[in-house]
Amino acid sequence: MKVLNYGSLNVDYTYSVPHIIVGGETMASFELHEYCGGKGLNQSVALAKAGLDVWHAGIIGNDGQMLLDACADAGVHTDFIKKMDVRGGHTVIQVDENGQNSIILYGGTNQMQTADFVDEVLSHFEEGDYLVLQNEVNMLDYIIDKAYERGMKIILNPSPYNEALDACDLSKVSLFLVNEIEAAQITGNNDAEHALDALHETFPNAAFVLTLGSDGAWYYDGKQKVFQDIFKVKAVDTTAAGDTFTGFFVKKLAEGADIQTALRTAAKASSIAVTRVGAAPSIPTMEEVEASLKEG
Ligand code: RIB
Repeated sequence: MKVLNYGSLNVDYTYSVPHIIVGGETMASFELHEYCGGKGLNQSVALAKAGLDVWHAGIIGNDGQMLLDACADAGVHTDFIKKMDVRGGHTVIQVDENGQNSIILYGGTNQMQTADFVDEVLSHFEEGDYLVLQNEVNMLDYIIDKAYERGMKIILNPSPYNEALDACDLSKVSLFLVNEIEAAQITGNNDAEHALDALHETFPNAAFVLTLGSDGAWYYDGKQKVFQDIFKVKAVDTTAAGDTFTGFFVKKLAEGADIQTALRTAAKASSIAVTRVGAAPSIPTMEEVEASLKEG
């Protein structure tokens, strides 16, 4: 079984600020850092650091060499990362004094996927292989359809939620990793208390991980319902916490671990990530996560 993650690669321009800026305000930042990020890249790095053999597919621009290097350094296979001579994807991220963030996305080359490139990438994968997706590249509907035709197991983190997802046949997805807001958006049901039931009713053949921030995370597949509390830490930067969770959960699932173990490992990994600054650089290794779990 091989794992392909088809997704975004961004240069994150991260500004430390006293608070997230409001309309009409001008404010000085404390610091500026340039980090490797993008939900796609972060999840590939998390999958690799968790111990999976993962291929990343996506497109970088003429400013993206550091993104390619970060993937390679983490052990991600980079054969399907294409380079174009135009501006790549980037973000402007504000991180406040509580570690909360707000993000402006510039799609750049992330929005330049073509059917030919998707077909070429997918031709290297087969039935039973995993495909991990987020929503920061174009052609998501096509990628899902073609991967499904090949019999790949599709795992989707529908973030950031936007109209591109409405064009996708989400009944082809095997596992969703969503937060409360995304759950309401994909089911059209705002009843947060019954979000898991609404998800199951909408996509009866899928499994779900519903993350609730400081209220922990749930797993539900129509039969098993499992809860995992958070590991409380002092957050300095929450960027990539969800991506880290996804990578470690999928790794544990792929090795056949029980759901409670998978959730616990993922929650611990993301609790470590939020104590560190930056997106990809904040992601721990499986050794660090296991050592921290042993410490209790
Ligand atoms: O999930 C965090 C990521 O979202 C950041 O690295 C940023 O690039 C945006 O894509």
